[in-house]
Amino acid sequence: MAAALSGSQRAILWYPPAYDIRVETVPIPQIIDPDDAIVKIKLAGLCGSDLHIYRGHEDIDKPFICGHELIGEVVALGSSFHPNATGRPELYSTLQVGDKIVSPFTVTCGECHFCRVGSTSRCIHSSLFGTPSLPGGQEQYARIPKAGGTLYNLNALSSAPLDVSKVAESSLLLLADILPTGVFAALQVLQHPKLSPMLTGLPYPWSSNIPSGYDCAGMSSAVRDDDRNITIAVVGLGPVGVCATVSLLDMLASLQKERGITYRVVAIDPNESRRTKMQAVHTAIDAKDKLSGEVVVTSIEEGKRIVAEWTDNAGCNAVLEVVGNNSALTLSYELVCPFGVISSVGVHQEPPLPFTGREMYAKNVSFDFGRCPVRAMFPIALEILLRRQDVFGTVGETTSLIDKIVGLDQAAETYEMFDKGKCGKVLFDPWL
Ligand SMILES: NC(=O)c1ccc[n+]([C@@H]2O[C@H](COP(=O)([O-])OP(=O)(O)OC[C@H]3O[C@@H](n4cnc5c(N)ncnc54)[C@H](O)[C@@H]3O)[C@@H](O)[C@H]2O)c1
Ligand SMILES: [Zn+2]
Ligand SMILES: [Zn+2]
Repeated sequence: MAAALSGSQRAILWYPPAYDIRVETVPIPQIIDPDDAIVKIKLAGLCGSDLHIYRGHEDIDKPFICGHELIGEVVALGSSFHPNATGRPELYSTLQVGDKIVSPFTVTCGECHFCRVGSTSRCIHSSLFGTPSLPGGQEQYARIPKAGGTLYNLNALSSAPLDVSKVAESSLLLLADILPTGVFAALQVLQHPKLSPMLTGLPYPWSSNIPSGYDCAGMSSAVRDDDRNITIAVVGLGPVGVCATVSLLDMLASLQKERGITYRVVAIDPNESRRTKMQAVHTAIDAKDKLSGEVVVTSIEEGKRIVAEWTDNAGCNAVLEVVGNNSALTLSYELVCPFGVISSVGVHQEPPLPFTGREMYAKNVSFDFGRCPVRAMFPIALEILLRRQDVFGTVGETTSLIDKIVGLDQAAETYEMFDKGKCGKVLFDPWL
């Protein structure tokens, strides 16, 4: 079962202190724990999260193999994988050498409390690929710890209703991180109790999860139709921001049909080429789905002006922060209305948050931060991936999320271009 691989492979390494990317020959990883799998990488993504390390913002002082987004094929399995592996996640008894897999960007055991309740990004065994403690996916072979809990077997997902055999292979890479993260950013606001008065037509606190015994029967709601017009800002339109906006529009369209809400979305980025991509994606979606809501893609200053005009200076009900710096958090706070919610999926660094307690108090604002629980988001992300192959399934077109697929040799220049916002999502094919 554990077909031992020996020899060397090529990999992208980051060197401290910053901006130093090299392609080197390193040993092929080996199984070191019975729960491990070794995967031959088909494609690996370059992500905004790699940029925080690239820029030297994460206080790392030794070189390591980069990347945390990967799809590939199982080439070796540890001894935990056998047909009688009962009482453990299903893949320990079903995964086979030769199966095609996608790996979430963090290790997920599938067996701890956090995994069981869906908070999978905070698994007690969590470890992030592409860090000094766990080599990443930008190489030819990768070791996947706790693989029976971590991996998705794509071969098991090749029949209706969620049939991945018909989608572009490159689009499956987006399930490793950025599409689930976009779904997470959107769900964190749409499922938030602060949005429920708009979604249910009932005022707070009757709008969600009142314990029984406090019946609101007989209460008349003062919520008017114009109160149910939800305004949402997306701050940051890199690849994750585009995924967040596409996911948000998908969910808002269905809420509009089911609950009768109306909505307006302002999507903001200072970088013109990022706005051009978002605009092209939205135009394509709108042409096909005839969206009922208003969507504007714009710059920071114009975004502030539009929100003030749309909401009579009150601000947005919710903001999705998809950047990962303090200027974006400050903007998000400026844009949000009292009793609003900010869903921050940007990866933030050491500096303190740019708000005072008084500012938090003054708006009754809710914040949600943190790492996407990819496994929990995976089924919804997969549905959106299948529905939106026009955006996710093509490469290099004006409406494509994925800009290009390059070999490892182009790593240094690709990191530099992505860092400067001169390209969108790039995938590495380590066999080119
Ligand atoms: N929470 C998670 O699990 C998770 C997962 C994946 C990525 N991320 C994070 O999401 C963020 C975005 O990732 P990406 O790949 O799209 O990165 P990216 O660097 O390509 O995109 C960031 C975008 O933000 C824009 N921007 C910068 N300052 C801004 C501001 N003040 N207001 C509005 N826009 C601003 C930039 O022009 C750029 O287009 C990163 O911080 C990344 O680490 C988090
Ligand atoms: Zn990523
Ligand atoms: Zn776990």
